Amino acid sequence: MNTKVWKVDKYVDNLESNPHIVDAAHFLKENEVVAMPTETVYGLAGNAENDEAVAKIFAAKGRPADNPLIIHIAEQEQLNRFVAEVPEKAAILMDKFWPGPLTIIFKMKEGVLSEKATAGLTTVGVRMPDHPVALALLRTCGLPIAAPSANSSGKPSPTTAGHVLDDLEGKIAGVVDGGPTGVGVESTVIDCTETFPVILRPGGVTKEQLEAVIGEVHIDPALKNEAAKPKAPGMKYRHYAPNAPLYLVSGTREFLQRLVAEKRAEGLRVGVLTTEEHADEYEAEVVLTCGRRAELETVAAALYDVLRRFNEQQVDVIFSEMFPYEGVGYAIMNRLEKAAGNKVIKE
Ligand code: TXA
Ligand code: MG
Repeated sequence: MNTKVWKVDKYVDNLESNPHIVDAAHFLKENEVVAMPTETVYGLAGNAENDEAVAKIFAAKGRPADNPLIIHIAEQEQLNRFVAEVPEKAAILMDKFWPGPLTIIFKMKEGVLSEKATAGLTTVGVRMPDHPVALALLRTCGLPIAAPSANSSGKPSPTTAGHVLDDLEGKIAGVVDGGPTGVGVESTVIDCTETFPVILRPGGVTKEQLEAVIGEVHIDPALKNEAAKPKAPGMKYRHYAPNAPLYLVSGTREFLQRLVAEKRAEGLRVGVLTTEEHADEYEAEVVLTCGRRAELETVAAALYDVLRRFNEQQVDVIFSEMFPYEGVGYAIMNRLEKAAGNKVIKE
């Protein structure tokens, strides 16, 4: 299959009548799948009401069938079609954080969405992306759009159209290239079907921000306990992993420097994941900086690109600094733990 690339400037007016958006929307209406930029990562979009379109999403990614997709909408009214009930706290969250990086799990009306999209569950995750290109595409096709991150299953999520093509070229009808995404980590997933809302996946909206508007929010205990079964099916899979083994290093930078020196003495090519503040402090074959530690948003924005870049550098082992578990640091650490398969070296 020839994968089209539609370049679209996200800052121009009247995106809904942009010929590239109209063309991409036409493919969606024909139940083909196309990648689109969102404010978090690129998504692989398909008609959520059509089994055939949804099957193409799973096939292109090589995604396990038990992992449900997030449904993307452009207007809150679209919820009425497939959501059974909007609890009060969910309504508050929608008003405060949509459009934005927050996916809300609702009880679902049966029989509207493809059962493949929701993996046979009775609930559905929905979000309204905060990206002019995604919103224009959603409005132009008028459909609820199922869109997982547009990477091959297991790889880091794509933050550029180039990342999407690296994984999916030839497997999808096209990609709308709206430039690099902003947030860099995926949306926060919050389950609002229980008395206390529960975060199933940390992401672009922080626990602190959520609690400021709806009070107490719980975190799925499985996020911290490897033995427990996560409530978001996708959270049980190894994800984001670079080709070389990645170790998170808990301790001082001197300790990390010693680990690097030991491995180099064994003749290995060593990679280090650090930030701009400390890049000069490491002597290794490949030192990649991931934003600025003082501004964790910049670390989130750069993270997946850096994980992908290690693969181009033929390293044998990668050591990464760790980040505080606060604000968006929670999501950064969750993704790094997954990328490392939870391998942490403590000083
Ligand atoms: O930022 C994002 O959310 C991106 C962009 C493209 O929107 N999408 C994304 O989708 O990250 P995906 O498929 O890579 O991750 C969706 C996560 C998975 O962990 C999945 O198991 C969970 O959301 N999920 C979806 N529906 C669910 C449901 N009804 N109950 C529990 N978890 C659900
Ligand atoms: Mg994903």
